[in-house]
Order: sequence, then C-alpha cells, then structure tokens
Amino acid sequence: MLSSSQFLSGSEIRQKFLDFYAQRGHQVLPSASLVPEDPTVLLTIAGMLPFKPIFLGQRTPEFKRATTSQKCIRTNDIENVGRTARHHTFFEMLGNFSFGDYFKEQAIEWGWELSTKIFNLSPQNLVVSVFREDEEAYAIWRDKIGVPEKRIKRMDEADNFWASGPTGPCGPCSEIYYDFHPEKGDETIDLEDDSRFIEFYNLVFMQYNRDAEGNLTPLANKNIDTGMGLERMAQILQKVPNNYETDLIFPIIKTAGEIAGIDYSKAEEKTKVSLKVIGDHVRSVVHMIADEIRASNIGRGYVLRRLIRRVVRHGRLIGIEGEFTTKVAETAIQLSESAYPNVRKREAQIKAELQREENRFLKTLERGEKLLTEILEKKPQQISGVDAFTLYDTYGFPLELTQEIAEEQGITVDVKGFDAEMEAQKNRGREAHETIDLTVQGSLDKLAENIQATEFVGYSEPVTEAEVTVILINGESVDEAEAGNAVQIVLNKTPFYAESGGQIGDRGYISGSDLVIRVEDVKKESDFFVHFGRIERGVVRVGDAVTAQIDRAFRRRAQANHTATHLLQAALKRIVDDTISQAGSLVDFDRLRFDFNCPRALTTDELQQVEEQINIWVAEAHSAQVNQLPLEEAKAKGAVAMFGEKYADIVRVVDYPGVSMELCGGTHVSNTAEIGVFKIISETGIASGVRRIEAVAGPSVLEYLNLRDKVVKELTDRFKVKPEEVADRVTALQGELKATQKQLEAAKAELAIAKSEQLFAEAEAVGEFKFIVAQLGDVEAEALKTAAERLQQKLGAAGAVVLASVPETNKVNFIAVFGADVNKKNVQAGKFIGAVAKICGGGGGGRPNLAQAGGRDSTKLNEALETAHKLLVEGLQ
Ligand code: ALA
Repeated sequence: MLSSSQFLSGSEIRQKFLDFYAQRGHQVLPSASLVPEDPTVLLTIAGMLPFKPIFLGQRTPEFKRATTSQKCIRTNDIENVGRTARHHTFFEMLGNFSFGDYFKEQAIEWGWELSTKIFNLSPQNLVVSVFREDEEAYAIWRDKIGVPEKRIKRMDEADNFWASGPTGPCGPCSEIYYDFHPEKGDETIDLEDDSRFIEFYNLVFMQYNRDAEGNLTPLANKNIDTGMGLERMAQILQKVPNNYETDLIFPIIKTAGEIAGIDYSKAEEKTKVSLKVIGDHVRSVVHMIADEIRASNIGRGYVLRRLIRRVVRHGRLIGIEGEFTTKVAETAIQLSESAYPNVRKREAQIKAELQREENRFLKTLERGEKLLTEILEKKPQQISGVDAFTLYDTYGFPLELTQEIAEEQGITVDVKGFDAEMEAQKNRGREAHETIDLTVQGSLDKLAENIQATEFVGYSEPVTEAEVTVILINGESVDEAEAGNAVQIVLNKTPFYAESGGQIGDRGYISGSDLVIRVEDVKKESDFFVHFGRIERGVVRVGDAVTAQIDRAFRRRAQANHTATHLLQAALKRIVDDTISQAGSLVDFDRLRFDFNCPRALTTDELQQVEEQINIWVAEAHSAQVNQLPLEEAKAKGAVAMFGEKYADIVRVVDYPGVSMELCGGTHVSNTAEIGVFKIISETGIASGVRRIEAVAGPSVLEYLNLRDKVVKELTDRFKVKPEEVADRVTALQGELKATQKQLEAAKAELAIAKSEQLFAEAEAVGEFKFIVAQLGDVEAEALKTAAERLQQKLGAAGAVVLASVPETNKVNFIAVFGADVNKKNVQAGKFIGAVAKICGGGGGGRPNLAQAGGRDSTKLNEALETAHKLLVEGLQ
C-alpha cells in the first residue's frame, strides 16, 4: 500500500521538482504563510497567490524566475474529502513562475520534460488540454512536443481559463493529465472521468487582469504560473489508488487507525472515509496553527475550528473515545518538518491549541449526549427532525451517530425532518452570507490584535464620543475615506446596537467637524461593531474623534417590537400551553416575527386572547428590571432561555416582574406602556411542529392600520357602501356571480342538446349498430352527460355514443354511453373511455353502459376521437 523504495517518496518528488527548475535559472523560494497578504482571500489557495502583486505590476520582482512548494488550503469541496480519490483541504502545490520572462513555449517544453524525463511518465500515459481558442498552445503541443492530436483536448473557459478569484490576474491554461488506462484507446478520452484521468500539472499563461465588471485588460508582462499537485504526483508515481494512501498522508491514517484499533486495509468503506478525513484535516490544522491561526468563530479561525471538530467527530465515528488529536498531529508534524520546519518549532502551540479545542468540543459532545439521553428517556417513537438537527448543529452530533444510538433503542430518526431543518439552516446561511462580507471578516481578523474591542454603551446612552479605529472600503482597510464612499467603520465605543438575537442593527449618524456619515446598518464581527454607512460630507480618518448617535425613533420602534416579542412568548405560555418554546424570532423596525414549537394551529379565539392579554400588560405599565446574573441563578429564578442556545456564565436578564423574564441581549422599552398597542397580523405553520406569528407593536401598528384603512376605503368607494356593509356586499356579489354562472351553464347545456339533435342525423352504422363520435364545444361534464344519454336513448339498445368537450384550456371531458346490445359485443364503456382519455394524458372509467373521463392535453383531442371511432368500428363488426 505504501511506497516502497522503488518508488519516489513525496519528499523526493518535491525536491526533484525544485531542483529541475533551479537548474533552469529559477530561484527556489520558501512556501509563504497560509495567511495571505491578499485581503480578498481567507487562506492561501494557490502557489501564485504570494506573487499576485508582481503579476499585477504592483511590485517589482527580485527574480525573473521562481519555483516553490506552496502549502495551500481550499475548503470549497470539504464534503468530498475522503470520498473521492483526490480531494483535499490541505495540499502542496509545486510551481514554476516566470515574471515577464519565458512564456508559453518554454513552459510547455519544461513541463513535458519534467513529466517524462524526471518523473519518467510514459508519453502514452499523458493527455493534455488547451483553452479552446488557444491555437498557439495547441500547435506547440502537436508540432514541438509531438503529442498526437487525439490526445490534445480543447476545453472551454470553465475548465481552461484560470483565475485566482472573481477579479485579478488570469489567463488561458493548459493542463497535463495522467491516463491510468491508455489501453481504453484515444477514442474514448473523457477528461472528466476521474476513474481514468487525473490532472496533475496546470500551466497558466497569466496575461490579463480581470476587473469587477469582468473586463479583461492585458497585463504589462506575459507571465507563467503553474501548479503541480504534489499529492497527485505521489499517487501516480507510488501507484496507490488515491492520494490518501501516499506516504504524504498515510502515516497519519495509520496512527489514527492504531488509536481506534482498526486496520485500514480491512476496514469497511465508511471507516476508511473517516480515516481519510482525519488524514487530510490533521495536515490542515497543523499547518494553520503553525501559521498562527487560532480557532474562533470568524474568518479563518472558524475554518480551523470546523476542521478540528470534523477530526474529532470522525474520530468518534470510528470508535475513538477521549483525546487523540495531538497524537495524530505528531505524526503530521513528523511528516512535514523537514520541508516546513516551523511545524516543529510551533509544536507546543499546535498541541496546546488542539487540546483546548478538542476538550471544548468533547464537552459540547457530552452535553449533546446528555440531551440525547433526555430525549430518549421520554420514550419517543421517533427522534424528531428538530431534535436531530439541534444535536447536529449545536452539539456537533453527526446524523449517523444519532441514528446509531436511536437504533440501539429500537427507534428511528425523522431524517426528512432533519433534512428540512438543514435546508432551512442553509437558507438562513445564504441570507447571512449576503450580509456578512467575508473580506470584512478577513480584514478585521487581521487587524484584530492591534485594535481595541468595541465597547457598547447603547443600553443607556443614545450618543457617545468615540474614536475611529478601522475604516474599510469594500472590505479593505484604508487610512481615510471621503464623501461619497460606502464605508464600514469600527469605533472603540458605540451606542449602536449591532444586529443579533433577531434584533436589527440601529440606524443613525457618525459625525465630526465637517463630517457626516449616515449609518445604515450595524453588525458585529467578533468583538467589533461594524457600522455600515455612507459618508455624506467631509473626510474620515483612522484615529478621528467623532460623535456617534443613534436615530432614536428607529430605536424606539425596534425596542417596542422586541419587548412585544417577549410578551408574546409569555402570553402564549399562559394562554395556550406553558411548554411552548421559542424556535426563532425577528425584530425589525416595522414588524416582529416569533416562531415557536407547537404541534397545532392556534384557534382564532386563542389568538384573540393572546392579543388581549398583551394589550392588558401594555396598559398596566410594567417597568423593566435589567440585571446581570450568573446563568444558574437566572434559570433558577425562572428566566426563559432558548433551547439549544449557548450562554455565557453571566447573563443579562430582562425582567418585567410578574409578566415576563428572559435571557436577552437586546434593547427593550423601560416600561411596557411605551409599546402603546400590539396587533397580531397572522399565524401560520412554517415547518412540522413549528408555528409563526407575525405582529406589529408601537408606531408600526398605526402604519399597519392606515394601510388597512386605505384598502377598506377603496372598497367602500367602489361599492358605495359603509365599511361594515362591505362583507355583505361581497357575499351578495358572490351569490350573483354563482347564479350567473349557473345560467350560463344551463344555456350551454341547452345548446349542447340542440346540437346533439343534429348529431343524431349524422349517426354512422356498422351492421345493425348505430354510433356517434363527436366533440360538443365547451360544455361542462354534466351537460355533456345529458346530451350523450339523450342521444343514446334515441339510438336505442344498438346505439353507442362517445362525446367530448373542452370546457377550458388543458381540460378535456369524455363520455361514453353504450346500449345493452353494444355491451353484448363486449364493448364496455368503462374500459373504452379510459383508453381514449389516455391519449389526452388523462384517465377515468365507469360502468359498462356509461363512463366518464377527463384529460389535460386538448391538442390530442382529434387523435383521441379518431381512435374512439376506429375502436367502435372494430368492436361492433
Ligand atoms: N494557479 C494555478 C492553479 O492553481 C496553477 O491551478
């Protein structure tokens, strides 16, 4: 399984690559950090990234040629890791670069020479691709290198035009693929087929810069950027079935296997996937920590946390109990210390960080297990989707783990419900993604150590003096910005509430001498409050002393809606069921939304009582008491907490004594009387067992009522009645409409019958039988039936009638009425009409003497009637 000495080791491959290009005038440079200087990406994703400023002409290179082995991390395909042969989060990219020196022809020649002479790959095993329009590259491969035309594939932009991101340097590229099965022949080459091909070397002809609108401008220089996947080359040369079984990763898998008491070669597929995930991710986390990334909830810190948690989870999936990450990390350190000495230098930090994160996560898992035990103690028939999802999302329990435990208890998990929750979460994620700009996160992450956390003073002060600590434009940190710019500003102190706990961020102004910034939203990134706004006047500089002031009218609206949400929860518990619990909420300036767990819809009566109760509390004018308390004490006092939510040790308790007490960080009215009035707008179901109430409170109620009033006014004007008469008027109109429709139907039916008289004269004969097959306009099924029955009666026992009509688009009616003699010929109306209706995409049936059917496709009606005709002629012979 592992490379024996006859094969090149990963280290040897790396060295041979660097030596090859060193001998050709390239400066060997060390790998850059995984934390890029480029603020538009979170992590170093390609060998070229450290050279981006050179390609763009922003930095003069010290050397015209360089070669590196660059550590890279990509997490876009994280779900595929361990499941395919070659997906990774961490990988090493071997690259040779030309900064305005050699170009296409030389890059291709050396790429080929290295592959065939140094790595001794047989040309029979190689296939190349070029960008569809790149005739030059095509000609070089064919004429200079001698690759047969059938083994040069033209690819479109998606595959063979490489860019490091949506904007920046880019260019057409040409790739070299290894063909594991050349015996399958040149006719069946499909480079997408990864059971046969693996791309191992990408040569990018960097010659354009792409701007935000997608325009390409030629760069001052034509450059070369290449990337060879070290793990892929190792897989090819070591003749193993996937990248994980190369000597670069397999020892980690082996260590994990030993800890779990598992022999990889004998393990089942699922276990192998977990071992591979561990093998891959451990390399990522070791190098990330060595590059001074620490686990957190934002940016690359979050990527690290997620990877560590995945390692721990997969460890548990294969039966490892307790801590193990430092042991596998040790193997990973041993594997890469010669090429990347900093992993050994930072060994202590790496292990300490891993231990801390692992412990923290194990505790979370334990709490999850406790929760699961509680769920199971209730002896449910099934674990609900919501519970399984909470376990997954909050406690890191993979669904399979919950399923396994459930199975031991002889019950199942509602997987559909789980999927629905997951989908809902993804949608929330998508919404969040639109608002939280990764580059903002990235920039703040980088600045985090040098700036002060923002102090929030907005519970008590609507305005404060503050200092500007960060200015971002498009997520990039700048020293100053002037009028007209959209900016994100961080202050050392702020009265602005930042969006959280469902409550929207404050609006307002940041001002200084001759400076006005309108604040349109505020969000929190870690410890920083980011004010999203636009500079309306003047210039803002980092270090400026400014006045930050919220718009109190907006704040009053948000607080009225927020407190009303608390009262709503309290009223629901009191009036409907005290086990009702919050599942989510939204507090906006003009409305509120409260989602809660409840197995049924509320009745109109209940909703009315809830609304009344809240308005009573409003009128009673209860004052707020806000206290900071230890979590346990707050819970003991009966403060309502959200299920599954994680709280700090000291919590903020918002209490309207005797009415509602909740753990909450939001802003609230100091007295319920400030709410003014509360109105429920709707109650709906949003998922199985989850209901949603939408409501308005405070000034929003007036707006809501005004809007309603406008609608009523329009109706009273149009109908010329008083508001209280509108409903009666509508009922009367509906009655009139119904009567008119009836009359119309009756008229149509009469017409149909009149028409059918004509049809009688046109009846055809087969022996002693008489039959009619016809379409009768657009009459409804009932009238069609009457007409058909009359006709058949007239024709007598030897008569057969088949009629159709098209009452509306995409709707066809059929009826067959057959006399007793017809049935004796074994021609049955039920079967008959079913076969005919089928032609119009429908169906139906009935008794032998009378049957009705429907269809959708009226364009096939003629065909259907012709078939009916034919079947009758045949049947009645
Ligand atoms: N920059 C190119 C890549 O990552 C070589 O594929």
